[in-house]
Amino acid sequence: MKSDDPMTEDTDIAAPRLRDVPNWLYLLREFEALYRHGSPGGSKLIRAHRKKVRDALSRLLACDPAIAMRAPASKPVVAHMSRALDMGERGAMQGMARALREVRADLTWEYGYEKVPKALGQKYAYCEVAGPLGPVKSADLILGFVLFAPNTTYPQHSHKEIEESYISVAGAWSENDAAVYAPGSLILNKPGDEHRITTGEFDPCLLAYAWVGSHEKLAAPGMKLTATRKARREQGI
Ligand SMILES: [Fe+2]
Repeated sequence: MKSDDPMTEDTDIAAPRLRDVPNWLYLLREFEALYRHGSPGGSKLIRAHRKKVRDALSRLLACDPAIAMRAPASKPVVAHMSRALDMGERGAMQGMARALREVRADLTWEYGYEKVPKALGQKYAYCEVAGPLGPVKSADLILGFVLFAPNTTYPQHSHKEIEESYISVAGAWSENDAAVYAPGSLILNKPGDEHRITTGEFDPCLLAYAWVGSHEKLAAPGMKLTATRKARREQGI
């Protein structure tokens, strides 16, 4: 099938497309349902963000994008994945948790940072399901999941020129000590917003996320943790 998507037009005609891998198609449809039917809670900013994600996802699904499966990769935190999915399947996000379970063997878990603080390397990883690198090839939208072990602090960071939303799938967590979020909650981080995440004491936390931004920025997001006050002092910033 010929596509209008610039990410897919040069793809070998025999390369698999999204419709050839139903489990990935159903997972993307779970994202679409969340961003189409969920409430913005009266926030114009969240309404606008939801529309950006929804429109990008509609375009993506309409062009039946190419699939570029990556080599599966694990990280230590994946030891908590079964528990996270079990919890997810019991709550408001059961559709998403079940769809994710069907592709879990094919996920590529990564850190995204050149240098990961040692403690964080045991307690955090993310995997993309759609984006410039695949597995579902997408130029103007990244979708993925981030998994945290219990009792984790994910240090302060921000995303330059990328708008991010998290949707809580399993577990309880907090951002910037502002509230405790339960499965189904959507949290918007506008470009440049500094955020720091903490997770509950006993259970893991699984979040779905969506990133929207320019093609260039999504192709090279340049993830960076914000320097701590101590590090800034040491570097004379
Ligand atoms: Fe973030």
